[in-house]
Amino acid sequence: MLFRDISPVLADPAAFRVLTDALVAGLPAGTDAVVGIEARGFILGAAVAYAAGLGLATVRKPGKLPVVRHRVSYSLEYGTATLELPEDTIRSGERVVIVDDVLATGGTVAATQELVEHAGGVVAGVSVILELAALKARDRLPGLDITALLTA
Ligand code: PRP
Repeated sequence: MLFRDISPVLADPAAFRVLTDALVAGLPAGTDAVVGIEARGFILGAAVAYAAGLGLATVRKPGKLPVVRHRVSYSLEYGTATLELPEDTIRSGERVVIVDDVLATGGTVAATQELVEHAGGVVAGVSVILELAALKARDRLPGLDITALLTA
């Protein structure tokens, strides 16, 4: 298993600012809200949303929410994972950008897209710091506008 950890980047003030600013600059025109995926996507998504003057919808791992709007389970290399969208976070017709640290197989983003669309939102873009190109997430996410600051 390939594991990339952005924690040292977050701990470096200059790097954190440069990356956040680059994610903000890449937001498509007309973005209404940011969607952050637990856990590292929360950190980046919150920074991007704050800097862009937007709200943040948080896509969570199971068992954390009092009221779940919708839940999606998806396959991992070994086993399954589930993501949940809280009630009252995405409004019908909203154009959102999904923010996360790493795009690997694309399963997490695909599940998040399903959550957004179930709530009536539209995924205007996906912004990540690092894309692991060998895992071919783009093949799994046809039609999505994906921005990766770095590719490995
Ligand atoms: C990592 C990463 C992405 C996801 C990408 O999260 O932060 O959310 O995997 O993988 P995929 O493209 O193959 O779906 P992880 O599940 O390790 O959770 P964490 O952020 O809580 O550490």
